[in-house]
Amino acid sequence: MSETFRFQLMTDMRFGCGWSRGLGEFLSERGLKRIAVLADEGCASHAKYFPEIVSLLEAALERVEVLQLRGSEEPDYDYLDSVADKVKALGEMDALVGIGGGSCLDITKTVAVLLTNPGQGIEYRGFDNVKVPGVPTVCIPTTAGTGSEVTINAVFTDKKEMKKLGVNGRYMNATYAVLDAEWTMSCPQSVAVSSGLDAMTHTLESFTCKQHNAMTRSLSREAFKILYENLPCLVEEPENADRRQQLLLGSYLAASALFNSGSGIAGALSYPIGVHFHVPHGIGGGIFLASVARFNVERGYTDYAELLDMVEPHPDWTAEQKSKRFVEALQALADRLGAPRTLEQWGISKDNVEDVAKLMHPLQGAFDQNPISFDAKTDALAMLKEHVA
Ligand SMILES: [Fe+2]
Repeated sequence: MSETFRFQLMTDMRFGCGWSRGLGEFLSERGLKRIAVLADEGCASHAKYFPEIVSLLEAALERVEVLQLRGSEEPDYDYLDSVADKVKALGEMDALVGIGGGSCLDITKTVAVLLTNPGQGIEYRGFDNVKVPGVPTVCIPTTAGTGSEVTINAVFTDKKEMKKLGVNGRYMNATYAVLDAEWTMSCPQSVAVSSGLDAMTHTLESFTCKQHNAMTRSLSREAFKILYENLPCLVEEPENADRRQQLLLGSYLAASALFNSGSGIAGALSYPIGVHFHVPHGIGGGIFLASVARFNVERGYTDYAELLDMVEPHPDWTAEQKSKRFVEALQALADRLGAPRTLEQWGISKDNVEDVAKLMHPLQGAFDQNPISFDAKTDALAMLKEHVA
């Protein structure tokens, strides 16, 4: 039987370094004249660009309110509600503009639906629980990686249950996304690397997961090539705006593939260690990428050959040889980016690894998306042990 699948993208995207300078006119032409800008702390480091864009918005629109969100800590539901209350207190707004990392964009998308749906954020956690569309949103990533600007997910920590469970599905897409590398230029290197590894996790897991389809595979392959070739610029050529713009594209393609397919082991492992040990989401997934690929290749999985062909053709090699080389190439890339190999600096060591592994026991469903069976108890413990000192 021929393959059947669905594929959907809902966000109207604008792409180009410097594009944000025209945002005011863009919004005004669409009748969106009163806006709240939700900007994360990172924007403060964009000494020139942020105030420049805010003045351009003020010149083009009737009302522009700027709310600064707190910094790097990943958001919980209490914080989400506190931001929603602040935005509600501003009175009626035509649109929300989020400028920041994934957390800021997740907050922007969710506040938009909390303005039109009653109750608190936590009431909408899960899938498709939002009943009414939110106010229009513009999501402008300042890090290339999370892909929140194209997905239908927003991740929040439930502090009571100590787990990350977001608001997902219907009406959780940004209305507009702007991919403008000017915003990413002054992102701190450690944050940029973590975000880049997040994008790489998205593309590899959408590629390998059992739910992949012909569309998502095309996007994952292309995203992999773009990310693999351009991620080193973060440490070797941080001022290169063209390559930064390419990273935004790679991240967007990777997330487009991810939310139309499924995820995998590395992404799943990142959540508990993020909640309990504050390992940044991108590092938490990225640290396991080569180990997951090795795990799969050692058990006969050879689709990685298709990815190696995108960046390093070896016409005479077998798929198995290419897949083995792919594992090495992936680890070499992570090392080139200066990504950590162990979780020691976040307090995960051989002394507590058995306890940390127990946090992975409920994740069998997520692990089952991997093409090779992976046991939430034995295999997860073995994989964690590879990353402790
Ligand atoms: Fe992610």
